[in-house]
Amino acid sequence: MSNNFNEAKMSAVIKEFTVNAEELAEIAAAFRHDLKRGLKNPDDSSLRMLKSYVGLPTGKETGEYLALDFGGTNVRVLRIRLMGAGQYTEVAKVAKPLKIDGEYDYIGANSNAEEMFGFLADLIGQAVDGDKETPFLLGHTFSFPSEQTDINNAKLIIWTKEFATPGVEGKVVNDLLTEALVARGYKNIKPVAVLNDTVAVLLSAAYKHPDTYIGSIYATGHNTCYLEPYAETGETPMILNLESGGFMKLVPNRFDIMFDEKSEKPGEQRLEKMVSGRYMGELFALALADVTGEKDAKYDFTAVDMSGIIMDGSENLDNAGQIINRITGKVFSQRELMLIKELAAAIVIRSARLVTATFVGIIWQTAGKGEVRMQHIAVDGSVYEKMPLVKENINRALTELLKEQSAVVDTVLDNGGSGLGAAIAAAMVKAG
Ligand code: BGC
Repeated sequence: MSNNFNEAKMSAVIKEFTVNAEELAEIAAAFRHDLKRGLKNPDDSSLRMLKSYVGLPTGKETGEYLALDFGGTNVRVLRIRLMGAGQYTEVAKVAKPLKIDGEYDYIGANSNAEEMFGFLADLIGQAVDGDKETPFLLGHTFSFPSEQTDINNAKLIIWTKEFATPGVEGKVVNDLLTEALVARGYKNIKPVAVLNDTVAVLLSAAYKHPDTYIGSIYATGHNTCYLEPYAETGETPMILNLESGGFMKLVPNRFDIMFDEKSEKPGEQRLEKMVSGRYMGELFALALADVTGEKDAKYDFTAVDMSGIIMDGSENLDNAGQIINRITGKVFSQRELMLIKELAAAIVIRSARLVTATFVGIIWQTAGKGEVRMQHIAVDGSVYEKMPLVKENINRALTELLKEQSAVVDTVLDNGGSGLGAAIAAAMVKAG
């Protein structure tokens, strides 16, 4: 054997990443409870319950809008034409990463707000081909916890997803964006709506399919929003951004704790750190190093590597072995590789089960004592779209929790909903 791989230890570690049926139901119930408390007073809940100041679209929204989609390492600006009846076309699109190793980095601690928003304004300028005359309304998907006072005023509460740019936390983001646009002469481009990506996904999905009340991002980061009907108070229904990645009523395992301690924001985003694409690889690396007895090993696994390992269906697991060897420099036996693959799968399955428990918590809360209504849960993001084992485990967990009522609930991919949702929000503002 080429390393200190310990099989018994591996089985125990896999167990630490397993959520059984009873635990799953407890988590869904705890989420519902936190949601209920949060509706009364967000300070009593680990969910931020942020108001979006927007409800669902009618599907009849029309016109051409700019959409800035900013929330991960890749920024996109789109020109979108809404035709109503759930129809739309993308007229133009530009995209650029916020960080290219060795070239530039707008998300690190050495950057600043002016540089970051300048970069965004330049990209918007490219999407309109430098046009400084034609008036444009812009919807801005800003995918970080933000406190809103109306649809266009959102103050960043705290960076997540390991963003560290100084000078943005506590600031009104569309003020920073407008300043950067004006400084470049784009007085014709007017940001009119700012929204979380989950809200954008829900707007986008609801524009196309009625019966959609929950929107979620399952990607680099994770979060969910839903339409709060305010059945008891009679207030106008509004989408609430739960910032469910901050859900705390969970039992983290050793690796969750270890990772949280060395993250940018220890103590924050505990659910997100257990489920989202940004963090899965790190959990896998810590767990593998534990099994091989290397306490301080720092392996750079990503969620994409995990996906490659899980997808290797061959008997000798050559591909999986190559990925693991490239990152750890170690050679593992076929049996060891099989167990390592099981570990990757366990982390992914736990992720899908925890995310599903939060969906069901929302469904239970909105159903109250009544029947669960027929609905789609709109989800966008690479983990949902591409990670093996995710969709089937979401479905399995939905059935485990909702039993026969799961027949009326499904999850649907809303690909690229962040951009479309931003355009729809701008159109909703224009329509008044
Ligand atoms: C942010 C959320 C966002 C999610 C998905 C999280 O880190 O806090 O606001 O919706 O990532 O992008």
